Amino acid sequence: MKVALFGATGLLGWSVGQAVLRRRYNLVSFSGNGSDELKGIGRVTPLSITDDQNLTRTLLDEWPDAIINCSAISSPDAVNESPRKSHAINVVATTRLAEIAAHLGARFLHVSTDMVFDGTQSPYRSTDLPNPLTEYGRQKLEAEKSVLATTDDNLIVLRVTLLNGNSPSGQRSPHERILNGLATGSPPLLFDDEIRQPSSAGNVAEAMVELLERSNLNGLFHWAGSEEVSRYELGIRILDRFGFSSNHLKRGSRKEAPAEIANRPAHLTFELNPLVGKLKTRPADLEEQLAELTIPAQLYGWYRENADDPTRYVARF
Ligand SMILES: NC(=O)c1ccc[n+]([C@@H]2O[C@H](COP(=O)([O-])OP(=O)(O)OC[C@H]3O[C@@H](n4cnc5c(N)ncnc54)[C@H](OP(=O)(O)O)[C@@H]3O)[C@@H](O)[C@H]2O)c1
Repeated sequence: MKVALFGATGLLGWSVGQAVLRRRYNLVSFSGNGSDELKGIGRVTPLSITDDQNLTRTLLDEWPDAIINCSAISSPDAVNESPRKSHAINVVATTRLAEIAAHLGARFLHVSTDMVFDGTQSPYRSTDLPNPLTEYGRQKLEAEKSVLATTDDNLIVLRVTLLNGNSPSGQRSPHERILNGLATGSPPLLFDDEIRQPSSAGNVAEAMVELLERSNLNGLFHWAGSEEVSRYELGIRILDRFGFSSNHLKRGSRKEAPAEIANRPAHLTFELNPLVGKLKTRPADLEEQLAELTIPAQLYGWYRENADDPTRYVARF
């Protein structure tokens, strides 16, 4: 199987590229900026998915069996800063990718988010009514609808939750943000009443590659880890994994937060059936997710000097 992966330099896309290669499939990968040599997956070709002509020509040349879309403007703050640019990527170009996939007869796997829900009725089933509170959530919902409208089969939209994991930039995932915050003297404020069901990029990637192989599974599905946790408690678990005391974190509550932050969904968890009963991949628990995490390369010197107990972490390179 030949797989075309979009967003290969991102937190999730990097893991998906590695999972595709582990199963010995053929991989061609793309991102806006590209990379000459990304560890574990090799060359990532620069290609903006908003460049319709180039996108169409490239995919007609490659004629892949499957297309995976992990490209997005994935931070709600970035979407608020440039909503039109984000819409062009998150909605318009994503729909175009789905149309090209249908034309090629390629299986299409698109990634969406728990942020399509308002966080008042967890755990959510994929059949529950979305009600996004943010522009990011609204764009992701619009993309889901237009992607699902392109074809009746050979298509998966997978909603996932907050992702742990290691990103190529070392700045994307919760542990990378927390450690970067500590290193620059601005530890993040984490709420003890904002509940999530985190997963890991590695585990989601395994589930996604399995979904590529399971052509009888089509439509909208949910995937997450097996445990729910507040953002604050997740921060404590992350610090503990790397041998930092919990004193380094700022604890907060949604009730005291400014409106634009308090507007984030309070409690987002997923009902994992029916997918959990159909895949061999199991949802990862928090211990498994934390065990995958590494210190970003650019922080390693700082980490060795500043961790309360650096012996808690066995370095992997
Ligand atoms: N991270 C999470 O916690 C989380 C949670 C739920 C759902 N999701 C969803 O999961 C998917 C992946 O998220 P992520 O966190 O891995 O995102 P990410 O780390 O921000 O990566 C985004 C990727 O999109 C690429 N990209 C951005 N603009 C592009 C363009 N115009 N043309 C081509 N590529 C472009 C980026 O490449 P360049 O930088 O090279 O342009 C990068 O490879 C998204 O759909 C997101 O909504 C993420």
